[in-house]
Amino acid sequence: MAKKRAAVSMQRNLWLVVSFGVLLCVLALLRIHSHQSPPELLRNPEPPFVGIPKIAFLFLARGHLPLDFIWHCFFQNADVERFSIYIHSAPGFVFNKATTRSPFFHGRQLNNSIQVAWGESSMIKAERLLLGEALEDPANQRFVLLSDSCVPLYNFSFTYKYLLSSSKSFVDSFLNTKESRYNPKMSPTITQEKWRKGSQWITLVREHARVAVADDVIFPLFRKYCKRRPALDIDKMKNMKPVVQKEHNCIPDEHYIQTLLSISKLDDELERRTLTYTAWNVSSTQMDRQNWHPVTFKYADASPHHINEIKNIGHVYYPTEYRNEWCKSNATLVPCFLFARKFSQGAAMRLLSEGLVGPFDAATLLTSSS
Ligand SMILES: *[C@@H]1O[C@H](CO)[C@@H](O)[C@H](O)[C@H]1NC(C)=O
Ligand SMILES: *[C@@H]1O[C@H](CO)[C@@H](O)[C@H](O)[C@H]1NC(C)=O
Ligand SMILES: *[C@@H]1O[C@H](CO)[C@@H](O)[C@H](O)[C@H]1NC(C)=O
Ligand SMILES: *[C@@H]1O[C@H](CO)[C@@H](O)[C@H](O)[C@H]1NC(C)=O
Repeated sequence: MAKKRAAVSMQRNLWLVVSFGVLLCVLALLRIHSHQSPPELLRNPEPPFVGIPKIAFLFLARGHLPLDFIWHCFFQNADVERFSIYIHSAPGFVFNKATTRSPFFHGRQLNNSIQVAWGESSMIKAERLLLGEALEDPANQRFVLLSDSCVPLYNFSFTYKYLLSSSKSFVDSFLNTKESRYNPKMSPTITQEKWRKGSQWITLVREHARVAVADDVIFPLFRKYCKRRPALDIDKMKNMKPVVQKEHNCIPDEHYIQTLLSISKLDDELERRTLTYTAWNVSSTQMDRQNWHPVTFKYADASPHHINEIKNIGHVYYPTEYRNEWCKSNATLVPCFLFARKFSQGAAMRLLSEGLVGPFDAATLLTSSS
């Protein structure tokens, strides 16, 4: 009798365990469904977009956009159905008549922007917020990340055709064996073999933007283990103990998208270059690229001769891979750069007045402010 009761209670326990297990499985399935990881997401592509595709211009700003006037002329010669604008700026910063003379930017700030701390993963979080907001519009098919010191080098129609002629993202992504920026604590999810480096200034196709926004695996690891150290002062460095120099200077914004796309097995879907030209100051005593910093173009640097030199660049050399990348878009040779940074207001004004971004009409900018 006692034996039978024990057997019955064991059966009941077993039943409880099994049904609890089933419940857990269902919950897990629901969770997977609502929170797809990048590879799963890629197996569920969105239906192809029918209609006029848009380019989403995503500005990462610290406050206002000092070069709004050049972008105003750029967008003015464009069909409004072919582009959209999103700005991530300091929380609470509103783009309106008081903060920009260009109506294209009015109300285009993200309402959920965050405080971006230099060298922290908050920079990539801001990028993901921009991508997420822009994904809401199904017409957005290309996503161009820009800084507040970027300028366009061509008119809108050239830029539009260029970006849509390739079905790949423009992301310079390369192996980085010489620099010790990889933190082994990220393994096994991020292995050294999958660790990539590149420029922060990328252009993504819609599918890859979805991968970046859906990612809840790689980003938390970056937040935990990938931090940027302050730039080392050469004079101070002489007195520094070697152990300090060995610290990982990770630079999240130059590794995140590249590493994520590599782990998602998307390397083949990239044109492996950035569309944004940056002049590096290599005159520093150290040849290490770590100590290079971007040069700011002043009025004198923005001569038509110099700008045309940049526009005529047709290939880029990657020293760490001994690789010469010919700039192609859908297998056709094209100029490498559509955008450039870092430009002062004077340099951007000169670019504009030379008519390099399309017909310059100062009157429209002045009337738009009234
Ligand atoms: C932010 O909110 C304002 C006011 O509600 C709205 O007009 C604007 O479109 C929003 N910005 C974005 C990028 O959605
Ligand atoms: C735009 O720029 C391209 C390349 O520089 C040029 O061939 C074309 O005529 C320009 N279009 C307009 C409308 O200015
Ligand atoms: C790329 O070029 C091929 C052949 O010229 C063409 O059929 C295809 O439509 C092009 N792709 C895009 C995205 O324009
Ligand atoms: C490059 O850096 C050096 C040392 O930091 C500085 O003196 C020089 O003015 C910089 N050159 C440019 C073009 O910014």
